Amino acid sequence: MFEPGRRQPQTKRKIEKRKLPMRSLGFGAIMLAALAMGAPGAAGASESEVKHAEKPRQFSWSFAGVLGRYDQAQLRRGFKVYKEVCSSCHSIKFLAFRNLGEPGGPAFSKEEVAALAASYKIKDGPNASGDYFERPGRASDNFPPPFANEQAARAALGGGYPPDMSVLAKARGYSRGFPTFLLDALPGFSYQEYGVDYIASLLQGYREAPADMSLTEGQYYNIYMPGRRIGMIPPLVDGSVTYDDKTPQTVEQYAQDIAAFLMWSAEPHLDRRKSVGLGALSFLVVFATMLYFVKRRIWSRVEH
Ligand code: HEC
Repeated sequence: MFEPGRRQPQTKRKIEKRKLPMRSLGFGAIMLAALAMGAPGAAGASESEVKHAEKPRQFSWSFAGVLGRYDQAQLRRGFKVYKEVCSSCHSIKFLAFRNLGEPGGPAFSKEEVAALAASYKIKDGPNASGDYFERPGRASDNFPPPFANEQAARAALGGGYPPDMSVLAKARGYSRGFPTFLLDALPGFSYQEYGVDYIASLLQGYREAPADMSLTEGQYYNIYMPGRRIGMIPPLVDGSVTYDDKTPQTVEQYAQDIAAFLMWSAEPHLDRRKSVGLGALSFLVVFATMLYFVKRRIWSRVEH
């Protein structure tokens, strides 16, 4: 049987390894010190069992770079994938129905938002007699979660817990390592699409498990998941979500669309942020040019 308790420490270690490259440096230093002192490296044995994940593929995103903007049609398709597939397990609790109508996003009309909200049941209350009740959703409501709580989710999914998706695209990343991480420190050059690359890769990363790897029930082999074991059944199949336009209905397309949608839900104001940044930069260029000529004028009267 699957024991949720057993997985946790392993998952935790994976996340630490993934997010904090410095940690592994520290770990290496401790191991070296331990070896130098002649102590047997007890942690070494379990460490070598952890299979390292492959680096996510890099996709070309419409929203990458200084001039990048979200592709409205892609966000709409991504939302469809979320609604029809992912939402049966993953919550997206920080997203309100009305957000879908905001500029820079999927830009749903008022009527579309209202109809969508009304199709959900929202728990509300207590009413005058102290009871909780269900009512149809309103534009201002947030998306209700598919499970009442974490325990209910784990019980229904054989021990796995699907993380909330609101900011998942920003919560997952990987280190590009030397030397590109130097570029990441410079505005305009920094690469901000790790999270989406990871999600789009992960959804296409299911493979036949190698013979030397034993998976427990409910675990699948995924080359992009740290440790290469994931407790999520492959959620996408070719043709499972119908697109109204001519966009290909393939896992590859779905994966990119849902990843783009999750990027938007994690950072809905990216478009505005980039416009403001560009505006500020052009102002600075104009201002610097003006200052240069003013300086020349003032100093032209001074003998030198
Ligand atoms: C049948 C339920 C189910 C469905 C449907 C589902 N997931 Fe998951 N998902 C899970 C579970 C359970 C986990 C936790 C897996 C683990 O920790 O090993 C998870 C984890 C994830 C993760 C996190 C991996 C990590 O780095 O920790 C991502 C990303 C993800 N799912 C994306 C999706 C997307 C996108 C969809 C829709 C296309 C989707 N999931 C549909 C159950 C589901």
